[in-house]
Order: sequence, then structure tokens, then C-alpha cells
Amino acid sequence: MRRETMATAAVIVLMAFLCCNVAAQGRRRGLRFDGKKGEFRILQVADMHYADGKKTPCEDVLPSQMSSCSDLNTTAFIRRLIIAEKPDLIVFTGDNIFGFDASDAAASMNAAFAPAISANIPWAAVLGNHDQESTLSRGGVMKHIVGMKNTLSKFNPSEAHVIDGYGNYNLEVHGAEGSKLANKSVLNLYLLDSGDYSTVPSIPGYGWIKPSQQLWFQRTSSRLQRSYKNKPEPQKGPAPGLAYFHIPLPEYASFDSSNFTGEKLEQGISSASVNSGFFTTLVAAGDVKAVFTGHDHLNDFCGELTGINLCYAGGLGYHAYGKAGWSRRARMVVASLEKTEKGSWGTVKSIKTWKRLDDQHLTAIDGQVLWSKSSSRKHMLH
Ligand SMILES: *[C@@H]1O[C@H](CO)[C@@H](O)[C@H](O)[C@H]1NC(C)=O
Ligand SMILES: *[C@@H]1O[C@H](CO)[C@@H](O)[C@H](O)[C@H]1NC(C)=O
Ligand SMILES: *[C@@H]1O[C@H](CO)[C@@H](O)[C@H](O)[C@H]1NC(C)=O
Repeated sequence: MRRETMATAAVIVLMAFLCCNVAAQGRRRGLRFDGKKGEFRILQVADMHYADGKKTPCEDVLPSQMSSCSDLNTTAFIRRLIIAEKPDLIVFTGDNIFGFDASDAAASMNAAFAPAISANIPWAAVLGNHDQESTLSRGGVMKHIVGMKNTLSKFNPSEAHVIDGYGNYNLEVHGAEGSKLANKSVLNLYLLDSGDYSTVPSIPGYGWIKPSQQLWFQRTSSRLQRSYKNKPEPQKGPAPGLAYFHIPLPEYASFDSSNFTGEKLEQGISSASVNSGFFTTLVAAGDVKAVFTGHDHLNDFCGELTGINLCYAGGLGYHAYGKAGWSRRARMVVASLEKTEKGSWGTVKSIKTWKRLDDQHLTAIDGQVLWSKSSSRKHMLH
């Protein structure tokens, strides 16, 4: 009995430490909803394929554009996006650098992520299948990234003793300053390493999200969901989640133009040749409302399957395959809070998305609502 009491006390002390430590991190890093508009804005940058800057030519642009086009156009596009969209966070979903052509991986990454750093915007990155092809291994690339300025990227979760890949982590976005949820995550982001290529001789093709990573996701999601149990108003139910990684899941092949928003200019979906079950794991966990990947530069759609939107960003980088005349692009996601009866900010009410094209006007296209609280309540009544 006494031993149990002591153990309980120890757990309480540990929980208090963890709670306040997390809260302190949230404040220091400032991932929180804006108190004026009640918004949190995320810019997704997919497939920069950065190499050696000015010396690196563009691919698949019009012949007339070739001579004046380089990696610097990739940088210029990200700078324009930052000015136009004022993101609170930039997520780089892999193939950040194109290793084969980057003569120095660290220098290439420094240049690739520079727009986020110079704009002083928090950013997070995951790895694609090309990041390790230069002078650094996958572990080396991730180690470099986590040491860069303003990044929230993490090497791997410290609580997962065994996990595949590099750069599996979650980020918590707190409610608006001054609201009841100021110290609480109201939007959860999961970032994962979807690998590069299969290392199993009998399985050809790209990598996949492994059981160890799925177990970490499952535990993290259930820990975050538990933290919402028995909470007073205005928090009802777990916070919505968004997942970001590089290689699309096999389920991205479930759609055609009758049920997706956007375009699919590539015939196939370049997922792994096997299904490792991560989509099922996401559906079972229940909090993730949308998944965002890159990898297929000429696919930029979102389609909903079993309550989860599967989205591509479309390729952003100029030293990456594309289609001449089809603008490079990026995806925005904006989560909005609802107002409580007392007039302060509450929990997330809706999550919207659109894309921006690298044309003269940074044209915004394909705006859509990915999730809203009212429609999920309707689902629950069925
Ligand atoms: C690349 O940038 C240069 C210099 O600003 C510009 O003249 C050129 O039109 C850009 N090319 C493309 C394809 O956007
Ligand atoms: C959030 O944490 C800060 C600092 O610990 C505290 O002053 C504030 O009252 C907390 N807000 C809420 C709503 O819990
Ligand atoms: C999309 O529509 C096609 C038929 O056009 C159908 O085969 C497919 O199952 C649909 N996908 C979803 C997720 O509803």
C-alpha cells in the first residue's frame, strides 16, 4: 500500500514535470494559434531537389526559360510564398536536396532551408529518397537538419528506444494566447520518415513506414488523446491531427478525377510495392484528418478515404522533374479555431487547404475544406 502511494506520488511528480516542460517548450518555440484571427497556417514545400544553387540548372521548363533558370528560382518561389501566406510553420516533406547533384550535402541544405531561416519562421523537415545521395548518410542529413536555426525537426523520439528511420517526431500546436487552451495542444502534427528504397531483396521499389514507426505513432496519438479525457469545456474530444511524410501510401491509388480535387498527371502512384498498413493504423487511431506527401511531382490532388484526406503538394523544386508550362506549386493548410460562448478562442473548428502556383500572381487554386468539427459531429450521430 505504502509502496503504491509512493509510486503514485512519483508518477504525479513526473507528470507535473512533463506537463510543464511541454508547456514551456510550446511557449519557447511559439507553435500556437494566432490570437487575432484564431488561425494556424502551414506551408508545405515538397521536393525542392536543391543542389548547388546558381550552378544547378532547372528541369522541364520551357526552352525560353532554360538559360535564366536555376535552384535560385526555387528559393525565390519560397520567398514569395512566405510573403504572400505568412505561414506560422513551414514543413519540408523530403527530397529537400537532390543528392546526386549536390556536391556538399550540408551546403546544399543550408541554401535550401535558407528562406525559412531568414524569414525567422519555425520549420520542420522530413527525409525523402534523394536526401542521402550526396556527402551525408540519412542519419548525417537529419543530424545536420536538427542543428539548424529555427528548426523544430527532431532526430527521433527519445522515448522510442528502437525505431526505423531518421526524423520521426510530433509537434504540438497550442491554443491561442489568453484562451483556456493556451497551454494545451489543439492541433497535433506527426512527421515521419517514409524511407528511401526497400532493403528486402524480394521486395522491389520504394521504402515504407515500418512497424516500429507505426507503434510510436500509435502510442503518441493515444497519449495525446488521453490527455483530453475529462477536461473541462471548451475542449471536447481529441485534437485533430495532420501527418506529413514523403512517399505516398498505396491508398493514394484509390481515387480518380471523379473523387479527388486537383490533378493526377502521373499514371501511377509511386508508393512502396507493398502495403505496410500505416493507413489502417491512422484510421484506427482516429485523430489524423489528413496526410500530406510529395514524391510524385505531377500529382497534386487531395482525396478522402474513410474519413482521412490523402493529399499531395505537387512539386516545388525547379531542379526536379516537372512539366514545362505546368507551374511549380506548394500547398497551404490553415486550421481555424472556433469562438467560445464567452468570446475567447476555443478548439479547432475547421481545416482548409489550397495550392499556390509559381506564376505572376501566385494564383491560389483548388481551395477545399479538409475537415470541420460540425461535419465530424454529424458522422458521430449516424
Ligand atoms: C527564374 O528566375 C529568373 C531571375 O529572376 C527569372 O528571370 C526567370 O523567369 C525565372 N524562371 C522561371 C521558370 O520562373
Ligand atoms: C499557461 O501557463 C502560463 C505560465 O505557466 C500561466 O501563467 C497561464 O495561466 C496558463 N494558462 C492557462 C489557461 O492554463
Ligand atoms: C472513386 O471513384 C471510382 C470510380 O470512378 C471508384 O472506383 C473509387 O472507388 C472511388 N474512390 C473512393 C475513395 O471513393
